[in-house]
Amino acid sequence: MQHDISQNTQGINAITKIRIIFSYHSLFRIKFCNFAVHFSIDTTNTKIPQAMISTLINHRTIRKYKSTPIAPELLTELLEASCRASNTGNMQTYSIIVSTDTEKKKALAPFHFNQAMTTQAPVVLTFCVDFNRFNQWCLLRKAEPGYGNFLSFSSGLIDTIIAAQNFCIAAESKGLGICYLGTTTYTADKIIEQLSLPNYVVPVTTITVGYADEEPAQEDRLPLEGIVHYESYKDYTAATIEKIYAEKEAIAKHKQFIAENSKETLAQVFTDIRYTKANNEHFSKVLLDVLKKQGFWD
Ligand SMILES: Cc1cc2nc3c(=O)[nH]c(=O)nc-3n(C[C@H](O)[C@H](O)[C@H](O)COP(=O)(O)O)c2cc1C
Repeated sequence: MQHDISQNTQGINAITKIRIIFSYHSLFRIKFCNFAVHFSIDTTNTKIPQAMISTLINHRTIRKYKSTPIAPELLTELLEASCRASNTGNMQTYSIIVSTDTEKKKALAPFHFNQAMTTQAPVVLTFCVDFNRFNQWCLLRKAEPGYGNFLSFSSGLIDTIIAAQNFCIAAESKGLGICYLGTTTYTADKIIEQLSLPNYVVPVTTITVGYADEEPAQEDRLPLEGIVHYESYKDYTAATIEKIYAEKEAIAKHKQFIAENSKETLAQVFTDIRYTKANNEHFSKVLLDVLKKQGFWD
């Protein structure tokens, strides 16, 4: 369902805005839970500033790109926005490898199962969990790092993905298109070699970015009531599952997937074709071996 967002206006009234500006410096002394009361935000007005929301709501993955390059200053601005994301302890335990060179992108392509975006996009970014830099800083400063474990990888993974998504939103807000490549974790061992990643560095996602050369229809999403639980988790029943997935199952393209793959249901297209147990187990082993080799499984 498309939302008409163009009519919306700002949800904080003018007086409130002025109060916020004048009170900004005292904000840090105010308990966050008092925020709405203190600034008298009109919480009944759910209309909010639209530029960013509209970028988010209009998101589509872009898989075809024009050859137009991304200006270096714009790329730097997007990377700045990416690295401004919240992150665990402000340690910034990630690195971003930027590939713009045609030959370097070609070399990466097989590790992304030769998906055309890898060579067609002007910029390919490999986002890596990186404790190598932080460990080196600790050792240089007489501090003993204790990050060769799964918990550290996991916090690095969260931070890396948040930074990646910040990049995507920033890029889309500037009129660029992006595509994530999930193949990164499938072939992390090969990408490590290709990009000369040292111990404590693991590639976790790749983003292709460039100016769109297609206008894809927007993909479906599950209805919000199927995803959001208020106060506590409400487990699903067969009836609620039926309801939540009804719209997805009714989409003509999805019915076509079922027919083309000689399956009975859309769920079977996922379990038997797209994300199979055998593949999941195989690539889990690849990733676990990578974590061990790179030092995250002491
Ligand atoms: C972690 C992750 C990995 C993905 N990997 C791929 C990929 O390898 N190839 C691809 O074409 N799309 C990939 N996608 C894009 C998804 O297919 C896409 O986001 C999803 O179908 C919903 O479509 P939308 O982004 O246009 O709304 C990936 C997305 C995510 C978040």
